[in-house]
Amino acid sequence: PESAKAAVPAVSSAVNAEPVNKEVTVLFGSQSGNSHNLAKKLTGRLQDTGFQVTLSSMSDFKTNTLKKVQRLLIVVSTHGEGEPPDNALTFHEFLHSKRAPGLQDMSFSVLALGDTSYELFCKTGQDFDRRLEELGARRLAPRVDCDVDFDESAEKWMSEVLAALQEGAGTSAAGNAGTAAVTAGSPASSEYSRSNPFHAEVLENLNLNGRGSDRKTQHLEISLEESNLAYEPGDSLGIYPENHPRLVEELIEAMGWNPEELVPLPKSEQEGSLREALTRYYEITVLTRPLLEQAASLTGSEPLLELLSAGREQELKDYIKGRDLLDLALDYSLKGTPAKAFVSLLRKMPARLYSISSSPKAYPDEVHVTIRKVSYESYGRMRYGVCSTYVSDRLEIGGRLPVFVQHNSNFKLPADPDTPIIMVGPGTGVAPFRAFLGEREEIQAKGKSWLFFGDQHFSTDFLYQTDWQRWLKNGLLTRMDVAFSRDTEQKVYVQHRMLEKSKDVYQWLQEGAVIYICGDEKKMAHDVHAALLTILEREGGLSPEAAKDYIANMQKEKRYQRDVY
Ligand code: 2AM
Repeated sequence: PESAKAAVPAVSSAVNAEPVNKEVTVLFGSQSGNSHNLAKKLTGRLQDTGFQVTLSSMSDFKTNTLKKVQRLLIVVSTHGEGEPPDNALTFHEFLHSKRAPGLQDMSFSVLALGDTSYELFCKTGQDFDRRLEELGARRLAPRVDCDVDFDESAEKWMSEVLAALQEGAGTSAAGNAGTAAVTAGSPASSEYSRSNPFHAEVLENLNLNGRGSDRKTQHLEISLEESNLAYEPGDSLGIYPENHPRLVEELIEAMGWNPEELVPLPKSEQEGSLREALTRYYEITVLTRPLLEQAASLTGSEPLLELLSAGREQELKDYIKGRDLLDLALDYSLKGTPAKAFVSLLRKMPARLYSISSSPKAYPDEVHVTIRKVSYESYGRMRYGVCSTYVSDRLEIGGRLPVFVQHNSNFKLPADPDTPIIMVGPGTGVAPFRAFLGEREEIQAKGKSWLFFGDQHFSTDFLYQTDWQRWLKNGLLTRMDVAFSRDTEQKVYVQHRMLEKSKDVYQWLQEGAVIYICGDEKKMAHDVHAALLTILEREGGLSPEAAKDYIANMQKEKRYQRDVY
């Protein structure tokens, strides 16, 4: 379904054109959709230049055809501690196994997405790059590793790859200029995107938790009117937040700066006041190794240079974790460093992605998201999640919020509305399921549905309770099991409820149900995965190996989908 073979018209203009093979395979491994978007963009460019492109997610790619691929372009991201995205896992494993073929006839290039605040920056892309070379393939253009703000580096890589391909294929940019670049499955386009967000009006901003709850979870309704932005259930909304004004003031004070001084804004010709720049345009809450290195060479700070010296890697890692720019300024006495020079070292404020909690059919021209406030104390100071705190404490109804839609093909309702679905979403992980059920109600889907939800307390934390109850009543939602972890002596979580109902869960899976897991990756999603394995072993009589294969197969059939963070 991801295949986008362009109809390439015969090159009629060039009389002496050699009949060269112009096939290119573009493979992506994408969790939140960035790599997928870039792969689609690349595909469009290649098609414009007359290449015949097969675009595919790594998980859909038939590995037994790899040997025949002559030109391979890979776009892949890295997550957490150097892990590949879900839909890159099997291909990554295959390529690194003994089953991988020799690739002497192949040329390739890799675009790696990552985040310099993680130690194993772009590891998955680096793995592919190294391994393809090991297998005998020739590098068309050097790998490019991108930080969170990837646009520019990705652009550079694409130009280099295109130039190298054109040289190799002996063609100029003539191509099939007559045909539009049609990329697979891209919905109606809007002028607004990650790099050009839509300043959307906030229609509603409600705390879903009751009085006395430990939590504060905002239900945000945003107008997409006049934006042309379209989305589907399972997609995410990107939001550009503002830093906490107190942190900005304290940082300016600690550095001895004048808040009204004009400084350059990131990736633009424009300038803004230091206060504005640090509030809206630059990231000030995360430290990265490259930032510390540049700060050390800018300021010449001896203690900072020492922290960066060989043999102190673990100390550096520990220091960076959980600290922000204010810590750095104070701990390393950076006061007096010129603002202009310092600001130019900072990363651009990155967008935050939230799973959309509305169906566009149920709420035309609107998008809803569900955002839980993050705040905690560390190193003697309160720390606030940038976007969640902005939305929760400072974003007013009627205000404007810069947003864009991030499509996520890894988390989609089954095409057949009769297919049963099991949804596992504790906490804010329940958000996309409100979108799923809203959508299924609008299209009058007949498939069964089962929701597992959990949070701390029934009385204060039952997010969207009235929606679920209405859907249970009208039959759209077939079953619902809840786990309120702090209402009972013993903690109960969603996976415990799944295990209690293991017979029925197994029955649903056997009937072809698709299972969706959304929410915390490290603990919840991991434990839910383990519970599923137990259910398959217990109810299906499968060996641990066979249970693993069962889930791997579900994954391949897109019947096991995760949106985890
Ligand atoms: P807890 O905070 O009481 O431990 C939503 O955040 C819900 O997810 C909360 O009830 C939380 O419980 C629960 N939760 C925490 N860790 C979990 C895990 N490993 N598996 C499933 N749910 C978990």
